[in-house]
Amino acid sequence: MNSIRTFKKMKHKNEKIVMLTAYDYPSAKYVEMAGIDLILVGDSLGMVVLGYENTLNVTVSDMVHHAKAVRNGAKESFIVVDMPYMSYHISNEETKRNAAKLILETGANAVKLEGGKPSRIEAIKAIIDCEIPVVGHLGLTPQSIYQFGGYVVQGKKEADQEKILEQAKAIEQAGAFMIVLEGIPEKLGEKITENLSIPTIGIGAGRFTDGQVLVYHDVLGMADFAPKFVRKYMNLSDKIPANLKKFINDVKEGEFPKKEQIYAPMDK
Ligand code: KIV
Repeated sequence: MNSIRTFKKMKHKNEKIVMLTAYDYPSAKYVEMAGIDLILVGDSLGMVVLGYENTLNVTVSDMVHHAKAVRNGAKESFIVVDMPYMSYHISNEETKRNAAKLILETGANAVKLEGGKPSRIEAIKAIIDCEIPVVGHLGLTPQSIYQFGGYVVQGKKEADQEKILEQAKAIEQAGAFMIVLEGIPEKLGEKITENLSIPTIGIGAGRFTDGQVLVYHDVLGMADFAPKFVRKYMNLSDKIPANLKKFINDVKEGEFPKKEQIYAPMDK
């Protein structure tokens, strides 16, 4: 299994790191079979699996439920699990308890949390103090959409770029082993990557981050909406209903089941 040392070495060898989300047993199995470097059980599951409008209502119990299934499907993979909204905001004690629950009850290897302001840096330090590896997440962090006024690209202005770069450095200093950079200009993605010794994983952060992450449902064309940074490798949202329709028609027209699907079929 890969470890936090593997990812550090990959950055230093200029080897791209590829991360994909997974949310259940089959998605985890396929992602591992494809040879992914590490899996993220993202709180994006609120939107792509549970049908919520955003990620804010996802709970620690939801994350535990899904991350357990992901571990069952991907026994050999390094798994990062998202800390959901309000699970690391109240106190360091609560943060530590939630991080430990996510790790101990699921078999995941690390947690990820969003933001870089001083209270987040304290949260990262508190979790690392419990020997749990942490991934940071900066830029267009979805748990802050109300503060941002929507899904708005972050770090367009020079002053904001400076602030995000300083936060990235603080996350590295706090001991995180990786940072996800989401929804920022390519130039800022490159600058942060050059200034850190830990790997940066981009999603809508351009070409020059140390790796890339995408959402499973986006890659397979199953999500309701695809942002600009997504490349769909399939269009399952067309293929799935079309094939289910074939089953419905086959039954209606007496085409299913046939002999091959019947135990001891009768001769008539
Ligand atoms: O929740 C998620 O899937 C994420 C990725 C988009 C990075 O945080």
